[in-house]
Amino acid sequence: MNKILVIHGPNLNLLGRREPAVYGHLTLAKINALLKLEAKKHKVTLVIKQSNHEGEIVDLLGMGKKNKFQGVLINPAAYTHTSVAIRDAVAACGLPVVEVHLTNIHAREEFRHKSLISPVAQGTILGFGVQSYILGLAALLDLNLK
Ligand code: DQA
Repeated sequence: MNKILVIHGPNLNLLGRREPAVYGHLTLAKINALLKLEAKKHKVTLVIKQSNHEGEIVDLLGMGKKNKFQGVLINPAAYTHTSVAIRDAVAACGLPVVEVHLTNIHAREEFRHKSLISPVAQGTILGFGVQSYILGLAALLDLNLK
């Protein structure tokens, strides 16, 4: 059975009360519950982590293979636009990584238009709210994971 690591980056723990006009009213707990429901349909196990700390996210990615994950679904949040360390960890982890965003970062402030992660991710899904995660998980599972 496949085991997938889900990583939520900084401030996503605040979803529900964080800028609801931008991010909607869904809490992270609700997003995780919907993801778990989807995972059950596909008979895969999810391990879900949220961290506000760049190094912790680097460590999670670096241990991904050793911890027997077959793929990673990540919303790097603000680190998308700033973190060479997370980009390098994605490139080095040896696992397919799908990047997701709740919002369409290209339709927002200019500093969000660039993702350092996208060039090293298998693919990116953005702009569909919680559906970005659901679609991202489906895309990851479609990759014939080993
Ligand atoms: C985000 C977009 C980022 O620009 C922002 O910093 C976030 C969330 C998204 O899911 O839309 O925290 O990754």
